[in-house]
Amino acid sequence: MLDNLPLSQVYQFIEPGPVLLLTTALPGHKPNVMALSWHMMLDFEPPLIACVVGQANHSFGALRQSGSCVLAIPPASLAQTVVSVGNCSGKDTDKFGVYNLTPLPAKHVAAPLIGEAIVNLECRVKDTRAVTSYNMFVLECLGAWQNKRLLHEPTLHHKGYGRFGILSEEITLKSLMR
Ligand SMILES: Cc1cc2nc3c(=O)[nH]c(=O)nc-3n(C[C@H](O)[C@H](O)[C@H](O)COP(=O)(O)O)c2cc1C
Repeated sequence: MLDNLPLSQVYQFIEPGPVLLLTTALPGHKPNVMALSWHMMLDFEPPLIACVVGQANHSFGALRQSGSCVLAIPPASLAQTVVSVGNCSGKDTDKFGVYNLTPLPAKHVAAPLIGEAIVNLECRVKDTRAVTSYNMFVLECLGAWQNKRLLHEPTLHHKGYGRFGILSEEITLKSLMR
């Protein structure tokens, strides 16, 4: 017996990859950070990543104007911080200060890396054609940083309505895929 799945709930089952933190910076303003789970890989090298950033978010304007950002992968231990930065706005909150995230200088972009993240990706906006229709930015990764001490930390995966999966196990199977 199959029950109807309301269309509004579909996303919870298709949510991609780990929840990310997206940082932006504009001259004369404090850097900002938001939570982001609507993203997907588009290509291997250089890595291209599509991200949906809603227009109501302060980060939307900063991303458009600056043309760059950092995508950071937080460990699951930062779950409460991720939810907090995803539920307030850089319009009126200094999120790095309030939530004790450590901004570190990036090499290619003005937006800061996050000291507590497992991986930080410096990105430039490569394509804005889908922004008008879908708020979707195509980002090109210009440089990537890993914290080897945190590489085996569990990651957070959003399942909607404040529910998260925590990925802490992996298996390796023979595969021809990269
Ligand atoms: C787990 C989680 C995932 C989120 N994913 C997205 C997303 O993919 N795209 C988006 O536009 N907003 C997403 N949000 C909401 C933004 O993070 C939120 O609106 C944030 O307050 C925007 O901050 P800003 O106004 O400082 O840019 C998410 C929030 C949470 C808690």
